[in-house]
Amino acid sequence: MPGLTKNFSRLCGSKPEASAATDGVEANKTRTFTFRELATATNNFRQESLIGEGGFGTVYKGKIEGLDQVVAVKMLNKNGLQGNKEFLVEVLMLSLLRHPNLVNMIGYCAEGDQRLLVYEFLPLGSLERHLHDLPPDKEPLDWNTRMKIACGAAKGLSYLHHEAQPPVIYRDLKLSNILLDEGFYPKLSDFGFAKFGPGEDKSHVSTRVMGTHGYCAPEYATTGKLTMKSDTYSFGVVLLELITGQFALDPTRGHGKKMIVDRVLPILKDPKNYPRLADPRLKGQFPESSLHHALELASMCVRENANARPLMKEVVLALDYLVAHPYDPNADKDSTKRGVKTSENGADLKSPEKETIEVGKKLNSTIDREQAVAEARKWGESWRDMKEKGQSSSCNS
Ligand SMILES: Nc1ncnc2c1ncn2[C@@H]1O[C@H](COP(=O)(O)OP(=O)(O)OP(=O)(O)O)[C@@H](O)[C@H]1O
Ligand SMILES: [Mg+2]
Repeated sequence: MPGLTKNFSRLCGSKPEASAATDGVEANKTRTFTFRELATATNNFRQESLIGEGGFGTVYKGKIEGLDQVVAVKMLNKNGLQGNKEFLVEVLMLSLLRHPNLVNMIGYCAEGDQRLLVYEFLPLGSLERHLHDLPPDKEPLDWNTRMKIACGAAKGLSYLHHEAQPPVIYRDLKLSNILLDEGFYPKLSDFGFAKFGPGEDKSHVSTRVMGTHGYCAPEYATTGKLTMKSDTYSFGVVLLELITGQFALDPTRGHGKKMIVDRVLPILKDPKNYPRLADPRLKGQFPESSLHHALELASMCVRENANARPLMKEVVLALDYLVAHPYDPNADKDSTKRGVKTSENGADLKSPEKETIEVGKKLNSTIDREQAVAEARKWGESWRDMKEKGQSSSCNS
């Protein structure tokens, strides 16, 4: 496409081939397609090929001749909000970035005023479909799958924040932008709003506020000051949705209850209430200590004070722990009844970290007991520490 390289240079201040994002790593090979090729691939953008519609365009499933892969073709609205700039940012970002938890862009078409993006097709669609738009004949997501999805999405964000060079702030994390591959493997999509992060001498990027109501960090919504911690906030909202099954934004609720954060945080003040917050569709099938930890983690991510939110690499550590200690219905059956916590010597165990030790022991009998206890203690202590200090150990962005 004539002028595309020039536009890239303008957007990132340097030629894409000079970007450090690709240093030592071969960038994705992004192809250009003609409009005719994509029309053929999608049966002339026929209704039967339609798989979704967003605020900026329409998405079709297709098969490109000579390419042994099913694709998703997003045709951007010509008069939509997502203009040429967002199209270029998306092409630029997805050409330079590469991670298993980011959707793979195969190519694009920019012919005349047509703007189309071609991605790998992710057969299970968006997380929103599985959490909020689930057909009645489909099983709701179980606890372990929810934690795996959260962990994968956190890894995608952590890569953008801590590994990509220059770092990238994603800006539009929400359920519909987390797409699911076979086995519910999550991948972040839609990079049209993404921004290169602040340089080392700066704490934030100033920008016009973009993103989705309900997921936007309060300081970003009011001042336009964008930091990595804005993404951490949106992640916290997604995690709350995964745990509770509630909507991030529910316009049908009364004043002060529309946002999930306003609904959940008051209940979180007393740990006794935690089980009340679990999605009823889980039917109680989750480890209680994991529910505690996941809720505490989510509440840290949505803290009002951006500096007190954890970094995404810390969030990944915490979620890795929860994924490594899955819900096991059989272990749960053997364990003491939910809510009754007793130690080996029969004494009551009340604190979450003691509970973690107990559940950690029960959940995986093959893991060496000492190691499980030590890991659980470390997890509990580091998170309690952060909670008490009211700030992350390494908050500096
Ligand atoms: N690569 C893909 N593979 C499979 N399905 C996809 C793919 N990309 C998008 N979809 C489907 O198309 C839907 C619409 O996506 P799109 O990104 O256009 O809008 P959105 O994310 O729902 O909303 P917004 O416009 O606010 O971002 C998604 O929710 C998803 O179901
Ligand atoms: Mg989207």
